[in-house]
Amino acid sequence: MSTALTISGVSKTFKTGFIPKKIVALENISLEVEQGEIFGLLGPNGAGKTTAIKCILSLIRPDSGTIELLGSPIPSSRAKSRIGFLSENPYVYDFLSGREYLRFSARLYGNDSATTEKRVNEMLALFHMEEAADRQLKKYSKGMLQRIGLAQALINNPDFLILDEPMSGLDPVGRKEVRDLMIDLKSKGHTILFSSHILSDAELICDRVAILVRGKLQMTGSVQSLIKKIEAYEMTIVSQSAPLFNGIPHEIIARSESQYLLKVPSIEEVHAILALSASQHFAIESIVPQRKTLEQLYLGQIK
Ligand SMILES: Nc1ncnc2c1ncn2[C@@H]1O[C@H](COP(=O)(O)OP(=O)(O)OP(=O)(O)O)[C@@H](O)[C@H]1O
Ligand SMILES: [Mg+2]
Repeated sequence: MSTALTISGVSKTFKTGFIPKKIVALENISLEVEQGEIFGLLGPNGAGKTTAIKCILSLIRPDSGTIELLGSPIPSSRAKSRIGFLSENPYVYDFLSGREYLRFSARLYGNDSATTEKRVNEMLALFHMEEAADRQLKKYSKGMLQRIGLAQALINNPDFLILDEPMSGLDPVGRKEVRDLMIDLKSKGHTILFSSHILSDAELICDRVAILVRGKLQMTGSVQSLIKKIEAYEMTIVSQSAPLFNGIPHEIIARSESQYLLKVPSIEEVHAILALSASQHFAIESIVPQRKTLEQLYLGQIK
C-alpha cells in the first residue's frame, strides 16, 4: 500500500489581537494516510483539525514542516485536481439551486456540458436530492446543505476525499448514509480523511485514527489496535443457591432471583469460575469480553 498523504513536523501558530497573542494551532505534527484507507482526525473543539486540513489543501501555509499529497509536495495542482473537499462551514451561493451549484462545481474542473449533466444527475440521485434539486440553496435545511456539500466534494470522482466534519448536521439516518457511502468509496479504492466529533461513527468506519489535542498529536493507530485490549470479562451465571467463589477476585454487578452478573479482571478468573460450575451446579449463560470503546480512549486522552 502506498502513502496518499505524509505530514512531517508541521507547526502552525496564529497571531491575534491588537497586542499580538500567539495561538499554537499545530505543534510538530507528523502523520501518514495510506492509499485506500479511511482515516479519522479526532479531537475536541480548537484541537487544530481544520487548521491541519487547511494546511493539507494549501489554503494556509504551515510555519514549518512539509506535506506531500498524492506523491507531490504541496502546493501541487496535479494533486489538487484529484481531491474532493467538504469544508466545515461550506460557503454556498444562496441563490443557486442545488443543481446549479453542482453544475458550477463540475464546470470548475473543466468538464464539458454532457459530462457535467451526467455527473450532476448521478450525485443528485446518490444523495437523494432529486426532489430538492431545483430549490434555492437558501431554502435548504442544514442536513440538505451537508448532502449537497458532499455531492460537490464527489463531483469530480476524486481519488482522495478530505471532509471536515462530514456528519455535522445530519440525523442518524443521514449519518448512516454517509458512513455507508464512505465504506462504498473505500471499496472502490478511494482514500478518505475526515475530521469528526462523533466517535461512534469513527469507530465504525475508520481504519486508523489520530487524536489531536491542543495542537499536539496524542496518538495514532489502527482502531483495532487502539481498542482491542480486553479490560475485563462479564459472566452471567444461573444458580439456584448463592455460588461460593472461594476467593476468586470478582465483582457482582447485578443479580436477580437466580441470575448473577459478575465482572472478573482476567481470563484466569473466568477459567477458575468455569471449574467451579460442575461442583456447585451452576450454569454459565454468557462470557463477554469488555473492551475499551474509542470514546473511553478519547476521553482519557483529552483530559
Ligand atoms: N485564522 C485564525 N486566526 C487565529 N486563530 C485561529 C485561526 N484559525 C484557527 N485558529 C485557532 O487555532 C486553534 C485550532 O483551531 P481549528 O479551527 O483548527 O480547530 P478544530 O480542531 O477544527 O476545532 P472544531 O472542532 O471546533 O472545528 C484554535 O485555538 C483557533 O482559535
Ligand atoms: Mg474544525
